[in-house]
Amino acid sequence: MATVWVNGQEIKLQDGEKLNAIEAAQRIGVEIPHYCWHPDLTVVASCRMCLVEVGERKPDGTVSMQPRVVPGCQTPVKDGSVVVTDSKKAKDAQAGTLEYLLLNHPLDCPVCDQAGECDLQDYSYKYGRGYSRFKDDKLQKADKDHIGENITLYTDRCVMCTRCVRFTREISGTSELQVINRGAAAEIDIFPDQPCNNKLAGNVVDLCPVGALCSKDFLYKQRVWFLQESNSVCPGCSTGCSINVSQNKNIVYRLTPRTNPDAQGSFMCDEGRFGFKYINAAQRLSAPLTKAGDRHVHVTWDALMPRLRRELKETVSRLGNQFAVVLSPFMTVEEAYLAAVYFQGLSAEVKFVLGPVPIHGSDDKYPKGPHGEAPAADKVKFTIRAEKCPNLRGVVPVIDHFQDDLIEWNDFIDAVNGGQFKAAYAVGGYPSAWVTSEEVSALSKLEFLAVQDVLPSALTAIAKYVLPGGSFAEKEGTFVNHNLLAQEIKRAINGPGEARADGRIFLELLERRGLFHAPTIRAELAKSIPYFEALGRGDLGAFGVFLSKGKTTNRMASSGSAVAGS
Ligand code: SF4
Ligand code: SF4
Ligand code: FES
Repeated sequence: MATVWVNGQEIKLQDGEKLNAIEAAQRIGVEIPHYCWHPDLTVVASCRMCLVEVGERKPDGTVSMQPRVVPGCQTPVKDGSVVVTDSKKAKDAQAGTLEYLLLNHPLDCPVCDQAGECDLQDYSYKYGRGYSRFKDDKLQKADKDHIGENITLYTDRCVMCTRCVRFTREISGTSELQVINRGAAAEIDIFPDQPCNNKLAGNVVDLCPVGALCSKDFLYKQRVWFLQESNSVCPGCSTGCSINVSQNKNIVYRLTPRTNPDAQGSFMCDEGRFGFKYINAAQRLSAPLTKAGDRHVHVTWDALMPRLRRELKETVSRLGNQFAVVLSPFMTVEEAYLAAVYFQGLSAEVKFVLGPVPIHGSDDKYPKGPHGEAPAADKVKFTIRAEKCPNLRGVVPVIDHFQDDLIEWNDFIDAVNGGQFKAAYAVGGYPSAWVTSEEVSALSKLEFLAVQDVLPSALTAIAKYVLPGGSFAEKEGTFVNHNLLAQEIKRAINGPGEARADGRIFLELLERRGLFHAPTIRAELAKSIPYFEALGRGDLGAFGVFLSKGKTTNRMASSGSAVAGS
């Protein structure tokens, strides 16, 4: 086991562990400031922000230090390494680097979008001189709005760390960005008419340590210190990227990736990043409705619930296996479980149906080759999955537990057309239209239909009851990704108007007391369904827990996806 000293504190490394000085220092909470280094990109050691003193402790206990400061990002630590970040020599080097970077960097802080999360601002405060000796005019460079459809470049704010350039070369593989010119004239740019529009492009904004690359979508919408962040999981595909949801006053302003080595690493795709707009849409379902003649009328939850309970009880006991409950792969595990418990409690004959599983093309793998080809299997660094729902592997096992056969959506529609089903309670939660007009016309034959959803549709239009549910940002619960990683999503905002998180609706249908509390339901679920045993610890931590593959239901194990191709 190797031993390393950082500012006199001892750190033990695991056998075979490879860390640079920045990572070793992070272990004990010591920050070595850095711009160009990023754990997922190659090391270029160009910004010189991480200069530290390094040396070696000899077996006799004496320490010999190298005469000059060296970049910590490019210094692997080994047994006996000594790193000093807080000596006068190291501090002078850090202050000198910052003074150099600020020579031409405009002091846009009051208007810069990165203010509040700018490494130049923060490091200047912590490690800089605190005053300027520069008397000349700063170099001014033209801003570049053409960098990408979603990205703009404030050229003179750039500290030339080249993280953005390396991202497009090493992670997306699309290589749109480059450095043009030399020295003080160096700028980030694209090749003529080839903007940075790859499907991972938004990550360069997160990677930019200063306010040079900005997201056009977020630009000037909010100061970051007004935002509150909640841990969540992107519902855009079965990759299940860990994300932060940033909101202010119940409006979601941005989604950003949250590093999770067990899920997607450090990045997310643009589809997921910008795909949340439906949450804030004015047309969101925001009040419970019931049919009065041909029209829907508003009804309070207090009036609706007893009536709905009575009617569901009567309809389910009358129709038995002709009553279908459609569970969507956008529901959390807890919601699917509560729904199943409720309807099974009304009749063991009720049938559970898996809602549509959107599959778009095939998995999109990165980094791309020079002609856009997919990488070799062992070189894949990011995958946008074709299966565009977050929780197929959480919802199918719930259905499996309560019922022998999995009824898929298409078979259900055929069965409705064949007269096998007379009533349904359908849960949606999809970010866009999820029923075709043919399907709506089939479902219009049902004598009873209740729809719980987030957006109005042709299906809600024909439903006797419309229950406004919650988007992923409005609820807590668990999503299980393609790799059986179960991750928690946390509530970031309240839903619009009277909309309620789906878990709460089922809890109320069940007439259970108390508030919806995901860890409690999770513990219950872990006890009743062996597949979910790993959820028994309640708190799944920031990275989530893997469900045991050995406990995978037969259907999931055989296909990897319960309904791939449907
Ligand atoms: S634009 Fe940002 S990420 Fe790119 S080189 Fe400049 S500072 Fe670094
Ligand atoms: S890869 Fe999938 S889960 Fe990740 S951000 Fe994109 S859509 Fe969301
Ligand atoms: S982070 Fe080490 S030189 Fe840039």
